[in-house]
Order: sequence, then structure tokens, then C-alpha cells
Amino acid sequence: MTKFSALSQKYGTPLYVYDFDTITQKFSSLKESFKARKSLICFAVKSNSNLSVLKHMASLGAGCDCVSIGEVKRALVAGIPKYKIIFSGVGKRDDEIEEALQNDILMLNLESEEEMNRVELIASKLGVVARISIRVNPNIDPKTHPYISTGLHENKFGVDLESAKRMYIYAKNSISLDPVGIHFHIGSQITEVEPFKEAALVLANLLRNLKALKIDIKFFDVGGGIGIQYKDETTVPLYEYAQSIFSALSGLDVTLVCEPGRYLVGESGYFLTRVLYEKNNGFKRFVIVDGAMNDLIRPSLYHAYHAIDVEGKENQPTTTCDVVGPICESGDFFAKDIELPALEHDDLLIVKSAGAYGFTMSSNYNTRSRVAEIALQNGEDRLIRQRESFEDVIALERAYL
Ligand code: LLP
Repeated sequence: MTKFSALSQKYGTPLYVYDFDTITQKFSSLKESFKARKSLICFAVKSNSNLSVLKHMASLGAGCDCVSIGEVKRALVAGIPKYKIIFSGVGKRDDEIEEALQNDILMLNLESEEEMNRVELIASKLGVVARISIRVNPNIDPKTHPYISTGLHENKFGVDLESAKRMYIYAKNSISLDPVGIHFHIGSQITEVEPFKEAALVLANLLRNLKALKIDIKFFDVGGGIGIQYKDETTVPLYEYAQSIFSALSGLDVTLVCEPGRYLVGESGYFLTRVLYEKNNGFKRFVIVDGAMNDLIRPSLYHAYHAIDVEGKENQPTTTCDVVGPICESGDFFAKDIELPALEHDDLLIVKSAGAYGFTMSSNYNTRSRVAEIALQNGEDRLIRQRESFEDVIALERAYL
């Protein structure tokens, strides 16, 4: 029996499986490519926030990039040191800012002057100095899906160069703010080095201007966005990626910060789902599985491609089909027009590269329980999130008569 069949029998399906050894390997490769400089890799928690995943990141020496106070608290619970935690996001609430400051995390990434004013006010009320970084929108096209492109002026993220400069000057003169970082994040699943290079050059230039104004920036945060291979795309070569940032930073003494999510966990993850039925309406072949868009929404939301393997039927003749879930929406699919062999009830399908933005984007739509998550490490498997029961799903509701 293969590893995946054994896991699906032991824990049931649908199921997420993450190979922690792959995560370790990805982390080491990235760290290695940055070795010519001081660097801090802050894992983007939104991509996979399971506490065991975060604990594993902590053991590797990673920090975390968080976009809600919930994520900050997850990172702290998992043992990520507070001085390695960054809080980003375009709309932080007052209570979130307050709690982040009380927890004395590394820095808050700010996305508007209005937000900076709130942070200053809250810091002064608390009697603390807020370490801040400013997210600069360099207006660069990352050439990725429009929903996950963030570095253009048409996107809601960050501030333009002129506003950023004004904000840094203001922050330097404020007794409640300490501008320590500069940040960009231009999008996700970026497969070329060029957009990163352009953005790094624009920001390094701004950094030099700030140095001339005696504003001492210590952290140069290049965001996340490194693409992975889902199909046949070529992705960003790490060496070239790192070199292009280093050359932009030439002569500048700063710590390089990077916030990868997908790159660290995407390829480590597998979504296991079983065939319920095959159905052919005379026009099209459908493979109906027990997983659905509530478990893994990327194909429905972005038309994202995830390769699908079938256990034990590798060399059999194939025909074209759609792989669909049981949810009452035509958008509930994992793949369209792919080639699969003839399948039977209980055959196991493995949806690949599902470790990033899989479970974290899942929901209880159609009152489906969120699935279990499993870690694989050194050949051992561990349950890292129990499958929800029906009772779990309705636990917070009150049925008034
Ligand atoms: N830093 C910031 C400020 C971000 O907004 C993001 C992702 C990251 C880092 C990590 O980006 P990554 O290295 O994972 O590309 N749900 C979409 C992806 C949304 C990404 C949002 N921001 C998907 O499933 O493709």
C-alpha cells in the first residue's frame, strides 16, 4: 500500500497532508540563497496557519508575517519569537494595533498615512514607541493573476513613493514612532525575477534618499510572492532572485526580510479525496469526489491549476473529464477537461501543491466539516488538526424558537 492510501485509510478523506521535510528543504534553500547578507525569513501565516506548521517554522529559525491579530497570536502560541513577528495588512483595527504594540513585535507594516496617525495615537496612549515599516507601492506589474497582483496603483495596497517619503519624515520626528523598515509586496505566484528586481531598485533608491535625511532604516522587506510550479511554468531561480536584490542593495547595510508563504509550503501539501461516482451525461464525463470547493477553493476562485494523480492506476488508458465536488454550484470543481483513467467508487485522487492557501481558505459552506490535517516528518505521520464534527460546526450557533 502506498503512503497516501495508508493515510487515507487511517484518517479518512478528504484530508490535507503536509510533508514537513519538504518545508525544511525549501526553507534551507531560500536561507542559503540569502547567505551573503543578514536575513530574516518571515513565513506568511495566511498561506498555512496550522500551529504545528508554525512550530516547525519556529524550529527552522523563521519569523512570521501576520495580517491579523489572530495570526500574530497564533505565531506567538507556536513559539515564534516576538522580535521575528511582522504585522502587515491594509486595515488594522485599533484593538489589533494596541495588542500588537503590547506584544512588542518586531514592526507594523503600515499602508496609509491615516493608519500611521492611528498607530501614533495608540502608541502614545500606551506610552510605547511603535516600530514601523511602510509598504510602498512601486507601481510594478508582477504579471500574475489580477486577484493576486498587489503592486500596481490600481490595487488598494501600500502608498506611493512621495507619500512614503512624507510619512518617513513625519515618523522620524514623532516621539511615538520609530521608522525601522521599508516594505514592498507586489503580488503572489510571480514566476519571473524582473518584477522583483525592478521593485527592489525603486525601494533601494528611496532608502538611499532616506539615509541622506538621517532616517536609519534597518530592515528591507521584499515581501513574498515567489512562484512555485503547479503545471509546467518555470519559476523564479532563487540564486538570481537573491542576486537581483543584493545588487539593488549594494552599499546599504540593512537586514533583508522576506515573507514567503506559497514557496515554503505549497509543494509540501497534498489534498486527498476519494471518488464517489463517475457520471456521464452523454456530453461530458464527470468524476464526483468527496472533497469540494469549501475544502480547496483555488480552482474555483482563480481557475488555478492543481495536478491530480490517481493512486494505483498510473498506466491505464485515459479519457477527458471534469473532477467536481458535491457542492451545489457549477463552480465546484478541482479540474476541467483533464485526462484520467476509468475510476471506481473509493479510488483515491491526490491533488498536488495544495499546501498553501488550501486549508486556510476553507469554509463550512454546505455545512461541510473542515477536514483533518496531517504532518509527515521523517516517515512518521501526526494528526495536526482533527476533522471537525457536525457538533463543532454548529457549536457557536443558538437556535431561538
Ligand atoms: N506578504 C504579504 C504582505 C502578502 O499579502 C502575501 C500574500 C505574502 C507576503 C505571501 O505571498 P506568497 O509568498 O504566498 O505569494 N490566495 C491566493 C494568494 C493570495 C496572496 C495574498 N498575499 C492564492 O491562493 O493564490
